[in-house]
Amino acid sequence: MNWNAEWICPPQDMGDVVPNFSKFFSISKPVKKAVLAITALGVYQASLNGKRIGDFILAPGWTVYEQRLQIQQYDITSLVSERNTLEILVGKGWYRSRLIGWQNSPRQKKYQKQPAGLTLTLTISYQDGTSDVLMSDDTWKVSESNVRFSEIYDGEIYDASFHKASEVSAISFDGPTNSLIPQEGEDICEQERIAAKCIFTTPSGETVLDFGQELTGYPEITLSNACAGERVNLSFAEVLDKNGNFYNENYRSAKAQYIYTCTDGAQCYKPLLTFYGFRYVRINEFPGGVQSASPEQFTAIQVNSNIRQTGSICTSNPMLNQLFSNIIWGQKCNFVDVPTDCPQRDERQGWTGDAQVFIRTACYNFDTERFYMKWLSDLSADQRSDGAVGFVIPDLLMADNPSAAWGDAATVCPWELYLAFGNPDILKHQFDSMKRWVDYITHATTTPGLWTGGEHFGDWLGLDAPSGSYKGSSRQDLIASAFYAHSTNLLVKAGRVLHKDISVYEQLHESIIKAFRLAFPEYLTQTECVLAIRFELAEDPQKTADQLAQMIKAADISLTTGFVGTPYLLHVLSDYGYSDLAWSLLLRTKYPSWLYPITKGATTMWEHWDGIKPDGEFWSSDMNSFNHYAYGAVADWLYGAAAGIKPAEPGYTKAIIAPIPDQRLSWFEGKLETRHGKICSTWRKTGNGFRYDIETPVATKICISGKWRDVPAGKYIFFSK
Ligand code: BGC
Repeated sequence: MNWNAEWICPPQDMGDVVPNFSKFFSISKPVKKAVLAITALGVYQASLNGKRIGDFILAPGWTVYEQRLQIQQYDITSLVSERNTLEILVGKGWYRSRLIGWQNSPRQKKYQKQPAGLTLTLTISYQDGTSDVLMSDDTWKVSESNVRFSEIYDGEIYDASFHKASEVSAISFDGPTNSLIPQEGEDICEQERIAAKCIFTTPSGETVLDFGQELTGYPEITLSNACAGERVNLSFAEVLDKNGNFYNENYRSAKAQYIYTCTDGAQCYKPLLTFYGFRYVRINEFPGGVQSASPEQFTAIQVNSNIRQTGSICTSNPMLNQLFSNIIWGQKCNFVDVPTDCPQRDERQGWTGDAQVFIRTACYNFDTERFYMKWLSDLSADQRSDGAVGFVIPDLLMADNPSAAWGDAATVCPWELYLAFGNPDILKHQFDSMKRWVDYITHATTTPGLWTGGEHFGDWLGLDAPSGSYKGSSRQDLIASAFYAHSTNLLVKAGRVLHKDISVYEQLHESIIKAFRLAFPEYLTQTECVLAIRFELAEDPQKTADQLAQMIKAADISLTTGFVGTPYLLHVLSDYGYSDLAWSLLLRTKYPSWLYPITKGATTMWEHWDGIKPDGEFWSSDMNSFNHYAYGAVADWLYGAAAGIKPAEPGYTKAIIAPIPDQRLSWFEGKLETRHGKICSTWRKTGNGFRYDIETPVATKICISGKWRDVPAGKYIFFSK
């Protein structure tokens, strides 16, 4: 991107204090348009004459900064006047905060050494046809701001009674210019405002607020009368412990604190350059004492990328509805510019495995095309020269070797986006990256046709894990080889769409299937069966599905699958004649199940099936998030099987509607807004069967009770026994 403005920073490092850059300028002619283009090494918040510019929170977002740093543009015509002061706060954000609490990331260390840099141009076009351009340079002033500390994991400290320190001149420095790109992702914005439900004293005597919903964002605090120097000091938590006490050990090293020092009088305040994942807030200090705080003084504000909800599921079963709500919230909370694992602890990373297991659900729930396209560009940018894909993108971990089912985000995500939105540019853009990932495996394996010799996350958090391990007991080489087949297959499909010569990969795919069948004639776990069937590797899929059904029944109709097997489990069952069993797994409320966390009050998806155990004890605080979307991938079955809505052609130019009703529900409704209009699929119990109400904006293949029909766009009613 062509960029002429200088990078500026404070002449001396201000440590934890957030610098405030400012520039005065006056205007003497009528303005036609004023446009600010800006980015920073950190996160910034800009204002003109005291009014906030734009509504992008945490701009410029999070990308692979060395190669891709986004520039935002704001039309500020309505804010300019004769005399103007442009001010910009630059906090540490993702760029300069410590990130990944448990690992020293050399890459992040490098970023952290960078100054609090800012670069901008303000172009003012006048009505007389002339224009002026104001840029960042050493005529700008900089001073310490009231934000005394701000980091992603550790929260924010704001001192409203701090009087502006003396200004000094900013200095210019050699900041990045080759990596500047126009804004690609969705803006991160404030969304729902949630009033505090109640305030209470815990058994251990602490004062705690409950917002009734876990969210990602921050609280807004309103004080009608405070004295300068009094403080609001808050800590954040997702859950209470079994005794009803405030519990945030699972945030690990993330301090997640908010301290606000008041000025005199009435004031309303919220953090500016950070975010928290929370449902509960402990009030550690409050003007007039913690007892004087009241719920009306607190509003929680949800913050996430501006994605539009396109899908919904509503049923006669309130627990299922709560599960769907938890999935929606889980997605919003973890869609803060990058698809993250969790929003609260010292992690909040773009884990590739989590992203690939959830993407189909994500694309039903929200219009995520632009969001993922930006992240996939980061994935390609961070792909190693040998094609390896990191555990997280942006890749701060930089592990020596990639993991199967994590690196496969490179092939799965573009293909799923293409299926959901029908845009072949997605495949065009990512094809090389997809190919390089498959080639990586071909070169890294110790056995041609399989992926052996690697170290992987396995069926992460599978319940059949040997004691003390996070990895389910499904064989790692089996999982890796199954994903090798899957990724190669997706590459072949993408190549066909793009009219590429992919004969080498077609042959490779065939040879993987052969090698897989020879190496793994038997399947030992639920996840092994699921992958063998789903990726079309099992020689006799019906026999393997029968075996899977037996395993589930033998386990008292319960699952043992982890991150890798869970997303496909119900599909595999309902595809092979076990719809009833699929529904039984879904409707189970006892541990382990999707509905069990709801019996424990969950309002988002949990990382572990047993984040809170039946006896009320927690899974170890070492790794126990209550806001991890991975198991929410089951919504794909709610849309794609229970309501039966699937694309017959990418992007729903043609649809499939093949609902799977169940007697245990009196009605079920799935809705999806596609690029071509809204699809609705509803079924309800009648005296002796089901009635189906179907509405489709495109030609559709409808299947009711095994009978297929081709219909044009329209509204249809069917009955079945
Ligand atoms: C993350 C995950 C991730 C996993 C892989 C965890 O710490 O939260 O969701 O996929 O590590 O090891």
